Amino acid sequence: MDQTEFQVPQTLEDLIKQLHEIFSSDKINVEEVQTLMESYTSNPADWRKFAKFDKYRYTRNLVDKGNGKFNLMILCWGEGHGSSIHDHSDSHCFLKLLQGQLKETQFDFPDSNRKNRELSKKWEKNFHENQCTYINDSIGLHRVENVSHTETAVSLHLYSPPFDSCHCYDERTGYKNKVKMTFWSRFGERTPLETSESKENN
Ligand SMILES: [Fe+2]
Repeated sequence: MDQTEFQVPQTLEDLIKQLHEIFSSDKINVEEVQTLMESYTSNPADWRKFAKFDKYRYTRNLVDKGNGKFNLMILCWGEGHGSSIHDHSDSHCFLKLLQGQLKETQFDFPDSNRKNRELSKKWEKNFHENQCTYINDSIGLHRVENVSHTETAVSLHLYSPPFDSCHCYDERTGYKNKVKMTFWSRFGERTPLETSESKENN
């Protein structure tokens, strides 16, 4: 196993500094990033200013642009909020729980030889506070949900390289649809209304 030494980040700011260092290199060790993100113990005082909720659906809130190498964002999930089934535009996707729980369901990509095919579910798993999961397009598709009807959830996502559109998939037919993603807020400030029309999230 490739063990890289690092200091446990004490704050979200520390974590961001260390992520900048890791991503300044062109070679990314997925396990190293995952271990680093997992080692940060979530403290709401660090991230509260970024965590902006909407009543109707989950929100994407930009935290850091990672020198163009990655986008770091905080997603806020109200009770029962969930994503569609989506891909990740050939990027790395790390998801760390900051508060509450999320359920991840993974699917295989639809069989390109068949026109109409229900997506096959691989597994589903619940993630708890401070855990970090990883996905990319070679692993499959996923859906992320806050299945709780009493608790909200907050998650920290890192995408590298950054992207602003992905595909969403219909579970029953496997048909896909390209969707553009937007930010509910950037650096703690609500995105002006005319540009924040949310079409789909990831
Ligand atoms: Fe995702």
